[in-house]
Amino acid sequence: MTDRELINIAVEASGKAYAPYSNFTVGAALECEDGSVYTGCNIENASYGCTNCAERTAVFKAVSEGNRRFRRIAVYADSDNYCMPCGVCRQVLNEFSPELEVLSVRGDGRYVSYSLKELLPRSFSMND
Ligand code: THU
Repeated sequence: MTDRELINIAVEASGKAYAPYSNFTVGAALECEDGSVYTGCNIENASYGCTNCAERTAVFKAVSEGNRRFRRIAVYADSDNYCMPCGVCRQVLNEFSPELEVLSVRGDGRYVSYSLKELLPRSFSMND
């Protein structure tokens, strides 16, 4: 699958976001090592701290379906800035795939690519 195809899936997933408080809708598309793709969106709550980001929604869907090995994730928001995963999501992604590639996409479709190691250097992991 090309980067652009994965990004298009993330864009579509953002349409499912439940974000009545921030109005910031995010979509994620998580590609597993076996080629399968899990989508996620952000899901907010009246008790704001209960909010789940799009990336974690995708990870939890994948893991709960028995898939723990990930290759790439595309994260999209209709924003002027590239949509970067928050610190909590970086940590959750790192639990399963420290070698992950992260595609951060902005509203006009342009994107930047990072390794998770760049985004979460010197991380705390199960090896510690
Ligand atoms: N959010 C995500 O879903 N993923 C990100 O990468 C950044 C932030 C969500 C959380 C919240 O619902 C909204 O965006 C504003 O922070």
